[in-house]
Order: sequence, then structure tokens, then C-alpha cells
Amino acid sequence: MGKVFLVGAGPGDPELLSLKASRLIKEADVILTDNLVFGVKKQIPEGKKIVDVGKTAERHKLSQDEINRLLVELAVSGKYEKVVRLKGGDPFIFGRGSEEALFLKEHGVDFEVVPGISSAVAVPADFGIPLTHRGVSSSVTVVTGHEQEKEEKEEGEEGKGEEGKGEGGGLDWEAVANLRGTLVILMGAGNLARNVGRLLKHGMPAETPVAVLERGFTSDARIVVGELGNIVKLARQARVKPPAVVVVGEVVKVREKLQKSKSQNLVGSQNLQEP
Ligand SMILES: C[S@@+](CC[C@H](N)C(=O)[O-])C[C@H]1O[C@@H](n2cnc3c(N)ncnc32)[C@H](O)[C@@H]1O
Repeated sequence: MGKVFLVGAGPGDPELLSLKASRLIKEADVILTDNLVFGVKKQIPEGKKIVDVGKTAERHKLSQDEINRLLVELAVSGKYEKVVRLKGGDPFIFGRGSEEALFLKEHGVDFEVVPGISSAVAVPADFGIPLTHRGVSSSVTVVTGHEQEKEEKEEGEEGKGEEGKGEGGGLDWEAVANLRGTLVILMGAGNLARNVGRLLKHGMPAETPVAVLERGFTSDARIVVGELGNIVKLARQARVKPPAVVVVGEVVKVREKLQKSKSQNLVGSQNLQEP
């Protein structure tokens, strides 16, 4: 029987792959990829068997259940010793890697998790936004942007989002809005207006700095900087699309000092005061 490796591909830059991930990509007998592996796809040696199971808002190539079953089928087929499931960022951060791991465990398939650098930290860093900064922010909270709010869930509303259904569980946006540190929203571009509305509704100041970081580590990477009160308009004007990481908090202003160049793919910016 083969073994399945749930491998984090990092945020898309092949140089940000771990040595272990890089080795496994070379050694794999079959690789299942998703959409967010970007440039890492080029690292896959020619002739290697690849199954693209990537999901987007518009189309699901394979459902999660089908992916789970396929992993088991490939591992037990006797044809493949190393099955690599390559996932964007880290497999266990909103990557459904834990569901795949549980399914493999239930079916007696040997597996290993290879962590990757999550887009939640890597994309802001590449744009010069530290998630913590002494005297500015001493905590980071990462949430999904297509989660239902508690009361919405109670009312039975379905979570909708760019990558399918909500994660379940009902996020307490009131608590999120009242955190003093940095807030990172993944899967948040499609629902930006709704999530910004929730934060404002629960008392987060309209002047709170916000950055929307689109397609990090690709040649189309862009950043839109604004405040909670105007970011929806700025992002709409810039026609921001998923995938994007949304950073909310005073750390966004640190970028003014750290950015690689004044105009590093900046669109829709307004001048922010230094922290
Ligand atoms: C399903 S989650 C997967 C997260 C992944 N497991 C990780 O750790 O980065 C997909 C979300 O990750 C974010 N994302 C992943 N790669 C990105 C990139 N290169 N640029 C911007 N956002 C990215 C977006 O918020 C996207 O909607």
C-alpha cells in the first residue's frame, strides 16, 4: 500500500517550499494539486502523473468527498508508493487537510503532514506588513471570510463564499471586531463588503487601516490600502478578485516604512498616518 503525503506548497513561490516538500514533489509517483500552488507547479518534473483537483468559486473540479476517496483509491491501488497531495500554503490552515487526514486514518491509509508557509503570514510579509509589531500589535487572529455569523447561522442562512460553503461553527464577529491585535481574513475578497459591514456593526472604528493583498507571489500581485470605512469602495474600484489576504489593523501602516518601493503594486491607496 502507498503512503499519502499532505504537503504544504507555501504561498506560491517555489523558493518558499520546504526542502522536504521539494524532495517529495520530485519523488512522488502521483501528485494531486489545487489552484493555489501557483508557481510551485513548475517544480513538478515533466512526465509526472498529475491530477488537478483544484477548486474555485465557479467550478469544483472534484468535490471534497471525491478528493478524499481518490486519495484512498490511489494509495490502496498498489500502483503508487508515494501519493503527494499538494496544497496551497499550509495544509492545516483552512486547507481541509485535516479532513483528508481523518479520512485516510479511517481507511487505514498511512499518511504524513508536511507543513507549508501559510499565505496568512507570507503574503503580508512580502508586502511589508508585519502581523505583529512592538507597540502596535501583540496578537494575530486568522479567520475565514466566508464564515457565517453566529446569529445568521441560528437563522439558518447558508454561508456562501469564493471557495464554497462556510467552514461551519459560526464565527463570533462581535468578538473578532473587538480584538485589539491584527486580524487576517482568508477567503475574504468575495465577501469583503459583508465582513467589513460586520466589523463596523460591532464597533470597529471606521479609521482602522485595512490592506487587501491580491494574488501574492504572482506577477499580478497587487495591494489596495485604505481604512475600514472606504476599503470596500477602493477594492471595488480596483476590481480586486480572489485569492486575496485581507489584513485589518494598525500594522498596515508599518508598510509605509517597509515596502520595497513606494509603488509596489499599489492601487487604490490613501495616505495613512504612521503608527
Ligand atoms: C482555502 S484557503 C487556503 C489557505 C492555505 N491553506 C494557506 O495556508 O495559505 C484559500 C485562501 O488563502 C488565501 N491565499 C492563498 N494563497 C494566496 C496568495 N498567493 N495570495 C493571496 N491570497 C492567498 C486567500 O485568502 C484564499 O482565498
